[in-house]
Parts: sequence; C-alpha cells; structure tokens
Amino acid sequence: MEIHSHFISLVTRLRATQLLLCTLTILLFTSTTSTTAATLSELPRGFKATPDSSTETFQPLLSDSTGNFSLGFLRVNKTQLALAILHVPSSEPFWLANPTKLARWSDRAQLTFNGSLILTDPHTKLYWSTHTNADRVILQNNSNLLVQSSNHTEPAAWESFDFPTDTLVENQNFTSKMVLISSNGLYYMRLGPDFIGLYANFNEGSDQIYLRHKAMEAKTEIVENQAPIYAQINPDRYLGMYQTGNPLPADVQKFNSFQTPVTGFLRVRLEPDGNLIGYFWDGTKWVLDYQAISQTCELPSACGSYGLCTAGNGCSCLDNRTEYASGECFAAQSGDFCSDGVPRNNFWVLRRNGVEPPYKELMRYETTSSVKQCESLCERNCSCWGAVFNNGSGFCYMMDYPVQSLVGVGDETKMGYFKVREGAGRKKVNVGAGVGIGVMCGVVLILVGIVVVWRFRVWKRKRGAVKSRFMEQNGGVSPGPYKDLGTASFRSIEMGST
Ligand SMILES: *[C@@H]1O[C@H](CO)[C@@H](O)[C@H](O)[C@H]1NC(C)=O
Ligand SMILES: *[C@@H]1O[C@H](CO)[C@@H](O)[C@H](O)[C@H]1NC(C)=O
Ligand SMILES: *[C@@H]1O[C@H](CO)[C@@H](O)[C@H](O)[C@H]1NC(C)=O
Ligand SMILES: *[C@@H]1O[C@H](CO)[C@@H](O)[C@H](O)[C@H]1NC(C)=O
Ligand SMILES: *[C@@H]1O[C@H](CO)[C@@H](O)[C@H](O)[C@H]1NC(C)=O
Ligand SMILES: *[C@@H]1O[C@H](CO)[C@@H](O)[C@H](O)[C@H]1NC(C)=O
Ligand SMILES: *[C@@H]1O[C@H](CO)[C@@H](O)[C@H](O)[C@H]1NC(C)=O
Repeated sequence: MEIHSHFISLVTRLRATQLLLCTLTILLFTSTTSTTAATLSELPRGFKATPDSSTETFQPLLSDSTGNFSLGFLRVNKTQLALAILHVPSSEPFWLANPTKLARWSDRAQLTFNGSLILTDPHTKLYWSTHTNADRVILQNNSNLLVQSSNHTEPAAWESFDFPTDTLVENQNFTSKMVLISSNGLYYMRLGPDFIGLYANFNEGSDQIYLRHKAMEAKTEIVENQAPIYAQINPDRYLGMYQTGNPLPADVQKFNSFQTPVTGFLRVRLEPDGNLIGYFWDGTKWVLDYQAISQTCELPSACGSYGLCTAGNGCSCLDNRTEYASGECFAAQSGDFCSDGVPRNNFWVLRRNGVEPPYKELMRYETTSSVKQCESLCERNCSCWGAVFNNGSGFCYMMDYPVQSLVGVGDETKMGYFKVREGAGRKKVNVGAGVGIGVMCGVVLILVGIVVVWRFRVWKRKRGAVKSRFMEQNGGVSPGPYKDLGTASFRSIEMGST
C-alpha cells in the first residue's frame, strides 16, 4: 500500500516529464509505425512473403475482420525478425511464432503457405512450421490464427491459441500442456493438478515456484485423477480455473471490473517482472484490471540481483555499502560454485539480518539448530548461493540460484547469508570527504537521468511500444545472462512438459 502511494505521488510529479517524453516519442515514432502494405483477409495455398527492408517496425500480412489484429513480420532490435500477431491499435504483440529463436531481418527469410504455414531463414537456420496440410490461414477477431481446411465444419488443423507466448485473451483455454513465458524468458506459468503456478528460472533448471494459486473450489470441486484442469479468462471478468467437462469454475479470481458495466476486451500477460497482469481495452488503451501480485516487494525479484525491498521504502541493497542504481546492486550472476577450473570458494560472504525471501512458504528449507549450522550447510554446498535462517522456527531456507531480492522485515532474528562471486562489482556509496558541488550536481543529474529513463521505460511498456519491449529483452539494457537464461529455460520447460 505504502509503496503504491509512493509510486502514485512519483507518477504525479513526473507527469510533466512524461508528457514531454510522450511528445518526443510520438515525434520519433510516427514516421516509423505507419504501415502501408495491403493486407489480406486470408492466406491461400501458394502464399509467399518476404520482409521488406523499408519496414521499420511491423509489416502486416493478414488481418482479422475488425482490423484489430494483424499477423505479420515484426522487427525486433532493428535486425531481427519474428512472425507475430499484433494488436494493431496498441502495437502490442500477443503471440510470436518463434519467441526463442528469432530470424534475421533479411530478404532471405520467407513465410510461405503450402498447406503448412512455414517460416524459414537459411542464415539463422530457422525453420518453423505448423506441420499441417490444410487450405487456408485466417485470423479470427479474438487474435486466434487458424490453419484450416475449406470445409468449415472440420475443426482447425492448427491454431495459435494452442501455443501461447506470454499473453492469454478472453475465452482462450490455457491447459496443463501449455506454458506462458515472459518476454525475457525468466518467468513462466504452468498449471498443476489443482493450482496455477508461477515459476522463476534464475538459474538453469532451478525452477523456483514463487506463486501457487490453489483453486478455492467454492462453486465446484476438482475431482482428483479425473479430467485435467484448464484456466480461462471468462468474459464475465474473472480468471477461472475449470475441470474439463464441468462448466462451473472451481476457482474465480475476479478482475477489478467484475460485475461492473465495463465490457472492454480482456487479456492477461506474464510480465517481465514475473507478475501476471490483467488488462481490458477501453478503446484507446489497455487498463490494468487484475494483478496476481499486488505488493511490489512480493515480486520474485522486485529490486534485482542482491536487492532489498522494504515496504514503504522501495529498493536498496543487501550490502549496505553498495548503492542501489539502475535497477540492481551487483550485476546479475549465473551458474554455481561447483565447476572445475575455478578455485573453490571464489566468493565472499555477505550477511544481512532482518531479511526474508519473498516467497519463503514455497521454498526448500531444512531445520537446523543454529544460524552457524544453517550457514555451513550453504557454505559447503557449491550449488547453494544463499541461506536465510529463522531463529524462531529453526528453518534454514536455501537458494540454489543467484541471490535475487529479499524483503526487509523488522525482525533481526531472520538472518541472511549470501555468497557473492569474487569480482562482482561493488558500487561504493561513500564518495569521501571532499565532495564538491560539481560532483553533487553530477549525481543529481544522473539520478534524474535514471528516473527519466525508468519512467520512459515504464511508459513505453505501458504503451506497449513494441520496440522497447524487445530491446529490453534482447538488447543491452538488461544484464547479459538474461537472454541465455531465457533460451535455456525454454528448453528445460519444453523437456519438462513432454
Ligand atoms: C510444404 O513445404 C515444405 C517445405 O518445403 C515441405 O516439407 C512440405 O511437405 C510441403 N507441404 C505440402 C502439403 O506440400
Ligand atoms: C467476432 O467473431 C464472432 C464469430 O466469429 C462474432 O460472433 C462476433 O460478433 C465478432 N466480434 C466482432 C467485434 O466483430
Ligand atoms: C475451451 O474449452 C471449453 C471446454 O473444453 C470449450 O467448450 C471451448 O470451446 C474452448 N474454447 C476455445 C476457444 O477453444
Ligand atoms: C476492435 O475494433 C472495434 C471497432 O473498431 C473497437 O470498438 C474495439 O475496441 C476493438 N477491440 C480491440 C480489442 O481492439
Ligand atoms: C552495515 O552493516 C554492517 C554489518 O551488518 C554494520 O556493522 C554497519 O554498521 C552497517 N553500516 C551502515 C552504514 O549501515
Ligand atoms: C546442495 O544443494 C542442492 C540444491 O540446493 C541440493 O539439491 C543438494 O542436495 C545439496 N547437497 C548437499 C550435499 O546437501
Ligand atoms: C536465537 O534463539 C535462541 C534460543 O531459541 C536464543 O538463545 C538466541 O538468543 C537467539 N538469537 C538471536 C540472535 O536472536
């Protein structure tokens, strides 16, 4: 709550900046977002298309009957290409054919339809196909892409709703065979036997669950070992969990617009910060309508690597000698301390009391008799990055992935022990005695810059500027290992779900 009101006041103060940035950005991008190519309402057999070098952001190929949605080539990071379904008025991508392996934006890349919709790029050896033998491709007015035969009574041979990316729209079924993955590849959502689970992939294979929403079973119960469950955004404005064959929801997570006259089109997205957010389209913009995690500090990594999130106080660093800047404390780390070739114990130890993992109820723990014993369990285990000991309960929570944000609690008997890899840069707070006015001005300028950049990014994300999302994902803004992690995590998910 307090963080929230802080945020609101910050937003109010920055509205002028935002306005300026809006104007600038609109000036910058209007020339680039206008797309002129004629789009089809159906792709017939024999259809072929190649990316046009003059396209700045999106080259539409196929549109739905309302013009709200379009399938086309999306330019990512200037040089890369994704086959995407865009919500045209907001430029939000709802679906990507090839989120983990992007093609190169070149005229060697090609989209064809010969019964299968096929995207190829000989350069990047990309080959994506629907593996069908059907007659046409159409885009429905709910953003579902269908490959179907000309006989309308047959079910579609392939539909994009079966392969969601990070977004679900109203009425789309999310089954236990599917996975939603955030655009940076760090977080994913999957169904359990009776729950919706959100997981973080901070380390290859770590798969830490950070939110587990179990069905309340108020209206109907889930019968064990019977039909599988699925989730769906109900147009009556809730995220429901159902058991196949039973039309009654076993769980209802109401959107804010539940039982209000609001009717705008609904969607949820697994965001790059790990939150699951619901929105409705009010005709001009996406309005926030649901948040799986409402407290900032409860996000899986609210303040980044080795950050400390305190309700009402925002972000600082676990290491009190380090300045919290540009969204992190130490550069994001990866791997473990086990590999051969590096000297053992190539880490230093950071201790901080009064901290707790944000999702400790879902974490692995051992019961130990003292903080010493807890620390030594972690110290001796080369896959352990950190441990938090609760002196009250004797629980020793262990992290087998690089340390993310912890939550600051008043209680000093919750004691954290964290390994920091040697060489992970430290940004010293103490500037020394002879701080001149010039230095102070510099710092202020940098801070203003950071806030502006941050606001700009928030704004761009809200506006759904396609460019910004993918630059964050693949470009230099976020720490390097994220992209590799993303690809790796996708692989492990694919293996896990087969
Ligand atoms: C479509 O083209 C692909 C790649 O050239 C080929 O493997 C596939 O058999 C073709 N499908 C049909 C139905 O002709
Ligand atoms: C979308 O399509 C469905 C049937 O395919 C139709 O009933 C509905 O009216 C359409 N909605 C809009 C906004 O065109
Ligand atoms: C979702 O699943 C329900 C129940 O299985 C089914 O009736 C409905 O047609 C499905 N919706 C879509 C869009 O596939
Ligand atoms: C789709 O288009 C109609 C008509 O232009 C508009 O009223 C509606 O808000 C649009 N829906 C979405 C989700 O963009
Ligand atoms: C930083 O933490 C250490 C160890 O917990 C403590 O001794 C020191 O006083 C703290 N320094 C500041 C500036 O808070
Ligand atoms: C080390 O930690 C990992 C993951 O935290 C755990 O699976 C493993 O059992 C631990 N090894 C020992 C020897 O405790
Ligand atoms: C931890 O708990 C023990 C006994 O339960 C107590 O003696 C000790 O003082 C506590 N230590 C801290 C730091 O609170």
